[in-house]
Amino acid sequence: LLKQTTIEENKETILGYLVNIDRKGIPQLIEALEKSDYFIAPASTKYHLCVPGGLAQHSLHVLYSCLQKMKFYYGKDESKWPSPRESVLISSLLHDACKIDKYKEGAAKTITDPQVYRLGVEWDKVDQSKLDSADRTRFMQKCLDENEAIRRDIPLEQASALIDWLTKSPLKNPMPPTPTVYHVEDSLPLGHGEASLSWVQNYIRLTNDEKLAIRWHMGPYDLSDEYGKRAYDQAQKVPLVNLLFTSDYDACYLWDCMVEEGEDE
Ligand SMILES: [Fe+2]
Ligand SMILES: [Fe+2]
Repeated sequence: LLKQTTIEENKETILGYLVNIDRKGIPQLIEALEKSDYFIAPASTKYHLCVPGGLAQHSLHVLYSCLQKMKFYYGKDESKWPSPRESVLISSLLHDACKIDKYKEGAAKTITDPQVYRLGVEWDKVDQSKLDSADRTRFMQKCLDENEAIRRDIPLEQASALIDWLTKSPLKNPMPPTPTVYHVEDSLPLGHGEASLSWVQNYIRLTNDEKLAIRWHMGPYDLSDEYGKRAYDQAQKVPLVNLLFTSDYDACYLWDCMVEEGEDE
């Protein structure tokens, strides 16, 4: 989990960057972001930063990585950069705008009937007087309804982990974490980069380099057909396309895994 203070700082940082961009529609874009779940949404449902605030944190990681690459390859003099700083800001911070208001809390798959039975049996076997009281309280809050029956909305993966915990030695091991889980509800399934592009262009006009960078930020992982391959080959001639793709990759597999964690639940 990200700390609440980190989530708030990230929001301030991102808004601070955006508010200084001099482009028609930026105030409307900021207003839309503030009304949306952008600052509290996860970055994914089960891969990187699948926690509240993950999307904003990931977007900042992409931005920092992309700015560092710009400096490394093209120098500190920004007039020599192949794309201006504001293009880096817009494309980095909004490359995953497709995820806004799309990840809903709750599991796509919940506990099965045999798991309900098993979890109840294993829970009844535990010597409650010896169980850690914090674990006992958490289990009751997470897993039992008002009649002390096993709840039906426990996410499937969590049910498996809890059964595993109870079956092994719950008196010696702490209860496994039960983080917030998400599922996707996509009301406008345009595709990943395409949906981000569409979202941003509802508010501001993008340069061609920004369009290409956002559309192709998944790089070769988004080649659905031969046409896609040809288009991506062409797009790659724009430095910002490669800079954003590699920054997103770095963020997903390196930076996003290193964030300092806050209190669990
Ligand atoms: Fe993405
Ligand atoms: Fe991303």
